[in-house]
Amino acid sequence: MAPKNPLLVDCDTGIDDALALLYLLGDPDLDLRAVTSVFGNTSAEAAAMNTLRVLELAGRPDVPVAVGADSSTRGTARFAPHVHGADGLGDTTLPAPAGAPSATPAAELIVRLAREHPGRLDLLALGPLTNLAAALRLDPELPRRVRQVTIMGGAIHHPGNVTPAAEANIDNDPESARLVLRAGWDVTLVPLDVTMTELLTERHRHRLAACGTPAARFAAGILRHYLDFYESTVFSRRVAACHDPLAAAIAAGDVSPVLAPAVAVDVDTGDGPGRGMTIADTRGQYRGFPAQDAAPVCVVLRTDGTFPDRLVERLSGATAASHDVA
Ligand code: RIB
Ligand code: CA
Repeated sequence: MAPKNPLLVDCDTGIDDALALLYLLGDPDLDLRAVTSVFGNTSAEAAAMNTLRVLELAGRPDVPVAVGADSSTRGTARFAPHVHGADGLGDTTLPAPAGAPSATPAAELIVRLAREHPGRLDLLALGPLTNLAAALRLDPELPRRVRQVTIMGGAIHHPGNVTPAAEANIDNDPESARLVLRAGWDVTLVPLDVTMTELLTERHRHRLAACGTPAARFAAGILRHYLDFYESTVFSRRVAACHDPLAAAIAAGDVSPVLAPAVAVDVDTGDGPGRGMTIADTRGQYRGFPAQDAAPVCVVLRTDGTFPDRLVERLSGATAASHDVA
């Protein structure tokens, strides 16, 4: 089998980011080169510490973690403890990591790895796009150096989740999102349209809890918190969205979208009620989405809804390390 392309994950580790990392780390062939943190669910510093915790839990303390932007290009930052817990990991109180973040800032690490692996590096962005935008400013040639970018973010024909129009990752830094989506690289956008239809359930949590490995039990612990949030706030039944793990699986080529047209996507950066809205040109949907030339982004509009079973299957088989969760 051909070796997998090197991968850098940029995230705001949070509950679903942690599940995405555990999913990726469950693939022994995956070439995870680094994880960079960004503000969003927590501060960038806390996200880096959570990432180190997850990497150590999964037995991968060797993966470098770099701290990135702690606020948007406009200097704003809003965290989500009501969704992800005060610690960002569902208040599961994993011990402090043994390792520490690297001294290299996130944007510099992205540029460095892209130069070290010309045409081969894959980027997976699971938080606000501030680090990717900073990397583009550092190296305008980045779109030609990177193989593909997969982004969890946006809402195309779906309501937003932080405003009526905007999804959290885009809303946290619309200016950066606009820059990244229009940079001319090979982008796949995984919006709420699909992440809100791939649902984790109480049955999945039970299966993880029953598994007994520290990683699976940790996943069950953070999923409990996530299910509590989604049940009380979003769905009125005990299911939770599968945002970042689905984007990770699409980036890894494990999930093939049912419908993912290449269309132009823009972001509303105004100060009105549409701020942070992703506007995709889907007018060609009745003609089977004819080719579009302007900054096309592959927008995932439909998946088959079976991914959570595969996520839990992977996590139940995940080997892991020494830490345990109370
Ligand atoms: O809107 C969902 C996204 O916002 C996910 O990436 C979640 O982790 C938060 O960052
Ligand atoms: Ca995230």
